[in-house]
Amino acid sequence: MPSNISQNLLEDLERILISEEDVQNRVRELGEQISKDYEGKELVLVGILRGGLVFLSDLTRAIKIPHSFDMCGASSYAGGTSSSGRVQITKDVEVNLHNKHVLICEDIYDSGRTLGAISELLRLHKPASIEMCAFLWKKVPERYTDVEIKYKGFDIDDVFVVGYGLDYEELYRNLPMIGVLSPRVYAGESES
Ligand code: IMP
Ligand code: MG
Repeated sequence: MPSNISQNLLEDLERILISEEDVQNRVRELGEQISKDYEGKELVLVGILRGGLVFLSDLTRAIKIPHSFDMCGASSYAGGTSSSGRVQITKDVEVNLHNKHVLICEDIYDSGRTLGAISELLRLHKPASIEMCAFLWKKVPERYTDVEIKYKGFDIDDVFVVGYGLDYEELYRNLPMIGVLSPRVYAGESES
């Protein structure tokens, strides 16, 4: 167990779904694949704040070809454990995407609303191509967009997870592994 992680955060996990080692190995593999696929192309990674920040910061260092990155902002969970159904764009990119090959990097693909809204936004910048990379791909019964995911880290069941950028009420993002949050943490959460 990592000694530098607050014991309280770990105690709130029902179980560890993906260990830190497995997370890092998979990011390395994704980086190698992306480096091959985009060789000779002008690549820009676009991470989605805030959850995608941790994944983006590891992925950029796992990609060995020249590229740039930026972040855009979207929020769909209003603090709880289920998607609010509305995606709010909170920040556009600043790097020039015109004629560049854009790879959107998201922490998790759940209902698909966030990636759908962000890809629409980025299309306005007239890039040469747009592809998606989701570190986690949740097996949910219903999706609202059929955005195609080119790179996937792991398929997971339809459970609420935290860690590696993913939060519950803005906490747990700093856990280096992916864990299933114990339901007692959000018991009594009100529907809004
Ligand atoms: P979507 O728009 O429903 O695909 O949701 C995507 C966003 O919801 C992600 O970027 C996350 O911020 C958040 N999200 C979805 N599933 C989870 C989860 O299991 N834990 C924490 N955040 C999640
Ligand atoms: Mg969130």
